[in-house]
Amino acid sequence: MSRATFVSKIGAIAAAAGSAVGLGNIWRFPSETAGGGGAFFIIIYLGCILFFGVPLMLSEFIIGRSSKSNAAGAFHILASGTKWKYVGRLGVLSGLLIMGFYMVVCGWTLHYIFQSVAGTLSNVPDFTANFEQLLQNPLKQWILMVSFTFLTAFFIISGVKKGIELSAKIMMPLLFLILIILAVRSITLTGASAGIDFLFKPKLENLKPSVFVDAMGQAFFSLSLGMACMITYASYFSKEINLTETALQVSVLDTLVALLAGVIIFPAAFALAQNQTTITSELIAGGPGLLFITLPGLFDQMPLSALWSTLFFILLAIAALTSTISLMEVVTVYIHEEFKLSRAKSVLIVTTAVIILGAFSSFSSVFFKALDFLTAKIMLPVGGLFISLFVGWHLDKKIIVAELTNENSKPVGVRFIKGYIFILKYLAPAAILAIFIYGLVG
Ligand code: PHE
Repeated sequence: MSRATFVSKIGAIAAAAGSAVGLGNIWRFPSETAGGGGAFFIIIYLGCILFFGVPLMLSEFIIGRSSKSNAAGAFHILASGTKWKYVGRLGVLSGLLIMGFYMVVCGWTLHYIFQSVAGTLSNVPDFTANFEQLLQNPLKQWILMVSFTFLTAFFIISGVKKGIELSAKIMMPLLFLILIILAVRSITLTGASAGIDFLFKPKLENLKPSVFVDAMGQAFFSLSLGMACMITYASYFSKEINLTETALQVSVLDTLVALLAGVIIFPAAFALAQNQTTITSELIAGGPGLLFITLPGLFDQMPLSALWSTLFFILLAIAALTSTISLMEVVTVYIHEEFKLSRAKSVLIVTTAVIILGAFSSFSSVFFKALDFLTAKIMLPVGGLFISLFVGWHLDKKIIVAELTNENSKPVGVRFIKGYIFILKYLAPAAILAIFIYGLVG
């Protein structure tokens, strides 16, 4: 079977970055940071990105490009007849479950686009009540999420290259620009410094035992790791792409976007709160509405607020779309290649499953939160643990070296390779396990 490859190098990076950068950075990161007590969460999060985020992304790239196959097929090719194939299948299941709640948040984004365009958003008297009104209308949330799921399906059907590359290459820089503008506005509000302190000055009384599990889960979620997404994408990479460089670039970009989102949300949340005590307890509780309540307040402080909010929510929706495309692609290609169904049929099956899950998430916030918890805090780290063990212990070292050096055309130091394999064999698995155990007893 001939498989698509990404046309250009920048396109491949853009697509992987497009998968990583999404609601995870701009919606989930701030609310996890709030729940995790601010600065401590951020420090541990950065540690996770460095110690297992980057090495694991590189591992998924190696598995994907060397096998040129979907999530489950990759393990079949590299370790046929073994139980490793379950790691791929676990990834596919994670992808499906993530879509089951992620699409609902995508739906909220659509709602905010409509409100911005109609000009109603800048006229609402109370942004919290405005968000709660949406939550109290599950049918509307479901219709919005179904629309977003169809939109994603449309891109999946129209092929790998066209949709993803283009949107990622043009929209990503634009999103980055508007985030910088918003960050500047936010930190120049009077009273913003309390937010900066919350973000960057660790305070012992804010430290919570769950912070390690939360930060680890967020790192996996944000970098799209542990569910074979980067395996599937790397299976389309051409052989010229430098995997180490790409993993680094994507991780740095993803982290910058998350930090920027924090620098936008927290100063604004603190500065705009009439009542500091309510906002602080709300922040610490880390509700899912943080982004959707705080940002309209920030736009309200800017000239041409409707224009800014329209632009922002459209770009946010596009960033989310490049992530949902990657999620749906993993599940679709798996069905398409493993069950030999046509691409269109596979998309139909996935779409149906997602909108059923989405109905439950729209009607029950408990279900929504359970899916979020199960995938980000359990399934992705478990997937990551096994991927690390797979590349560290099972995969032929020749394949690793060939992938890291682009078939010996770009030599890499022996020390680098040894260090990398050491991380995968011992360090990353031990750290992930330790965090799990601490989370259970802590
Ligand atoms: N990384 C994406 C985000 O931050 C979400 C995602 C998770 C996408 C796992 C693919 C796989 O929004």
